[in-house]
Amino acid sequence: MAAWNIQERPAPEPCKENDTGVFEITCRDGRARLGKIHTQHGIVNTPCLLPVINPNIQTISPQDMWSDYGIEALITNSYVIWKHEHLKTKALAEGVHALLNYPGVIMTDSGTFQSYMYGDVEVGVEEIIAFQRDISVDIGTMLDVFTRPDMDENEVEFAVEETHNRAKISIQTAKGMMLNGPIQGGIFPELRRKSARLMGEETFTVHPIGGIVPIMEQHMYEKLAEIILETKPYLPANRPTHLFGCGHPMLFPMAIALGIDLFDSAAYALFARDDRLLCPWGTEKFDQIVEWPITVPCVQSITPKQVREMSKERKTEILARFNLEVTLAELSRCRQAVRDGRIWDLARMRSRQHPALKKAWEFIEKQQKQWIISSQNISNQGGWMYENGCEKSDPRIIKSLENLHQNWRSTTHEKCIIFYGAPSPWRNKLNDIILKIRGINENILILISTPIGLIPYSIEDLHPFAHIEAEDEKWTNPPEMEFIDQQLIALGIDSKSHLIVDMNHEHMYAKICDYLGKEIQKSAHRDVLFREQLTDKMQLFFGVEPETSADLISEVSFIVGGTGRVRNVLDKEGNHLFSPSLTNGSLAATALGGLWLSKQKPRPPGVVVDEHAEPFVRKGRNVFHGFILSVDKEVKQGDICLIYNQSGEYIAIGKAECEATEMTLFKKGIAVRVRDGLKNVEGHDSKT
Ligand code: GUN
Repeated sequence: MAAWNIQERPAPEPCKENDTGVFEITCRDGRARLGKIHTQHGIVNTPCLLPVINPNIQTISPQDMWSDYGIEALITNSYVIWKHEHLKTKALAEGVHALLNYPGVIMTDSGTFQSYMYGDVEVGVEEIIAFQRDISVDIGTMLDVFTRPDMDENEVEFAVEETHNRAKISIQTAKGMMLNGPIQGGIFPELRRKSARLMGEETFTVHPIGGIVPIMEQHMYEKLAEIILETKPYLPANRPTHLFGCGHPMLFPMAIALGIDLFDSAAYALFARDDRLLCPWGTEKFDQIVEWPITVPCVQSITPKQVREMSKERKTEILARFNLEVTLAELSRCRQAVRDGRIWDLARMRSRQHPALKKAWEFIEKQQKQWIISSQNISNQGGWMYENGCEKSDPRIIKSLENLHQNWRSTTHEKCIIFYGAPSPWRNKLNDIILKIRGINENILILISTPIGLIPYSIEDLHPFAHIEAEDEKWTNPPEMEFIDQQLIALGIDSKSHLIVDMNHEHMYAKICDYLGKEIQKSAHRDVLFREQLTDKMQLFFGVEPETSADLISEVSFIVGGTGRVRNVLDKEGNHLFSPSLTNGSLAATALGGLWLSKQKPRPPGVVVDEHAEPFVRKGRNVFHGFILSVDKEVKQGDICLIYNQSGEYIAIGKAECEATEMTLFKKGIAVRVRDGLKNVEGHDSKT
């Protein structure tokens, strides 16, 4: 069956001794993350699935997992090995990697699941840890106490406490072996939080969320979502989180969007034995299908009918491969969605395909957890599908609107004109008329009506407002008065009067003249609009008040690109300070722009780096975790971050890759993506 043999995929490289067990994050999308777990048997790229290998029945062999599927880590059960003399003897003599003939990372479970399925197990808490250590497991698991959804609160509380009581002795016995610290708590949010807090205080490497198999089996996905939401924020962010026993691809996008890094499951093999096919939208029966629901490599040249005619064993292997390939493909899709900043869209789309999942997703969106909203990157790009009510449920939109409503303040509000009628780009339609309005009076507020809210014209190119894809009527129907009133309040505008104008209307000019009580004659210079844009974007992206930026902005000049948009903002000496992004409308500062920002009150938040990092950061190299001495608590993932040296001198500017609390927690990976350092600037390069 193998398309190529094991020799063709080299053995994994061990990580540096000091990095063993370190979890590094390479990309974030809200709370979703791509990471790397460093181990002596190679790097595990997350999110990923650890296929369950039953050492007695191998539907797909571990060698094939490694060579055919590039599986970097798998999970097997130390209790099963311990119980079977022939497996135990070989594992103790040669190690678990030789037993399974697998060169990658091996995680083992402890027998807890067997105790849930079959009653008590006869192995001791320390004994099973010592055994995992003796057979050279990479990541072992302590013997936790399984919490079933039908248990009452007292029983669950006992299980949570007993699991925690066993934690210290398990860690001691592990003698440095990486260890899973499972989170229990049944269906009780308070106990899930308690378990996460208690277990998070111990030195575990990974935290699996346990006790969820019966919850998933009963399709209680809303409960599952609640359990993740009540657990994740209370766990140390620098440890991978695992969903014990979750292997249905349908659940991956939702779980990943909520910050899950690892999955494990025997589902690919168990479902195959029952003639069931795993698909990203649910489970399909195999027995009568004429065509495969998805074409994956293992079934490309074979029909379902041909597979049905095979021996039971061969059929099970092909269906298991089908299930595994579909599962891996969905994980690839999820990881790419994280890179594209679109995991929320994928999770929402998948949730539509199953009623219980839809309910779970609605529950998540209704919760409006600040923990999720605060981590959203509002400087994304690309088309954005509007859905009714998304302004109250989609964390990216909530964050964008919060940012606008909290940080933007109108400096002009004598009168107010609200344009509606078409999607962006609005500048092509409106720039001329707005310059004419400014020619009459600079003190008139100009807003645009979008399906998610009113925005000032100065941010007409800003994501997501400029990238909304909605049905035509959402643009062409005049906005309702109630919507306008609510929006004006949210924007802090108490305008005495406003005019609502259809930007497609042929008599638009006449209406506006009428409202202003003046004839439109001379246009203002385009720099007037550029200055408004800069003032407002400095409020939104750097938290700089209009009064603070006024002097600087009155003196800057603009370099304008071929499309008539500002490329660079220069100070009066001609130094480059800022650049608006042409793709998402955000504003970036150069090292000198950052220097100016660092001198303002209040200034944008930042971090202090140590003396080893300073020379590199000054040259514009990224700030890595492990070199940060302190961090302002206002630092937010995706937002501007000033960088200082140990003496408190500003040295560079960048974008925070994580939240303030994570800056010093992580030990590896990029903490601040530096845009520019002072060393690159003449007159500021005195330090090495
Ligand atoms: N496998 C599936 N669920 C669990 C759990 O709660 N604990 C352990 N140790 N393994 C599991």
